[in-house]
Amino acid sequence: MNIVNTTEENIKKAAEIIKNGGLVAFPTETVYGLGADALNPVAAAGIFEAKKRPFFDPLIVHIAEISHVEKIAEKPGPKVLKLMDRFWPGPLTIVLSKKDIVPDIVTSGIPTVAVRMPVHPAALALIRAAETPIAAPSANRFGCLSPTTAEHVSSQLGDSVDMILDGGPCSIGIESTIIKIMNNRFYLLRPGGIAPEEIEDFTGEILLSEPQGEKPEAPGQLPYHYSPEKQVILTDKITRIEERSGYLFFRSPDMSYPENRSKILSANGDLREAAANLFSHLHRLDMLDIDKIYVERVEGSGLGVAIMDRLKKASMKYI
Ligand code: TXA
Ligand code: MG
Repeated sequence: MNIVNTTEENIKKAAEIIKNGGLVAFPTETVYGLGADALNPVAAAGIFEAKKRPFFDPLIVHIAEISHVEKIAEKPGPKVLKLMDRFWPGPLTIVLSKKDIVPDIVTSGIPTVAVRMPVHPAALALIRAAETPIAAPSANRFGCLSPTTAEHVSSQLGDSVDMILDGGPCSIGIESTIIKIMNNRFYLLRPGGIAPEEIEDFTGEILLSEPQGEKPEAPGQLPYHYSPEKQVILTDKITRIEERSGYLFFRSPDMSYPENRSKILSANGDLREAAANLFSHLHRLDMLDIDKIYVERVEGSGLGVAIMDRLKKASMKYI
């Protein structure tokens, strides 16, 4: 498998692949992305094929300069510009009215496009070298656990990707927060790497839940997502140990536990550390010869909102 380091030379090669309509998996601060030229519909189709992703689920378009928003979307209003100034580059995706240059396959035919400027230097370097916005979903098979290392990508997508740029483990480890501003109201479409409170404090606006009656907009519409193969069972606190089960503790437990089939999100309950470890710990547990994974709930504020969103969806698979 073509896993390479993020050297300047490799980024140049990766950019050539993107320019020629190929697929490159690359690191971002949130999760690994599976990138293609966002303005080339055939290239974008390759993403759906490699991921086995349904065409009704639109892609996020990644840019490297705030000024490039205007290539793909109508000029945003002052409130949105302030948000971009404050949170870009970083794990915030903003849904904007799209321009015709963005192919329908990228947005699943809806009139908006989700735009994000990642902060990871390799991601920014790749977008700049490719000289085009890059459409990229998380680089996992549809519905499966998101990848936070190059190995996660190669084990799920293997040879269907032309190159995997290895930038080490993702620092944030959970996908971007997605918001949409409509008629001056702010909607949270997906909780993610920026805590909703942080956006509310900065804007002075309450983040509303998704507007009703719109086409599917965020992965929330699907009954399950981000799922390990094994059954995930959510619990407030793990209090007893069974055979053939794995355990994901939020903090260091005050009981004895089987270390070979347990993981701890953060010894002292730090939500940032917990988010960064979430998918990689679930990947590890999922690889064991067990039947179930018991997972402790985390507190539902700050980054805990995004963590609980992913855990609830992971646990829906068998319901
Ligand atoms: O952190 C991230 O956002 C990562 C990295 C690679 O940037 N990407 C990511 O992409 O999580 P993906 O495809 O796994 O999730 C993006 C979600 C889609 O499921 C879709 O529902 C939502 O973003 N989305 C995309 N375009 C949208 C639009 N125009 N309106 C509303 N939601 C949209
Ligand atoms: Mg995804």
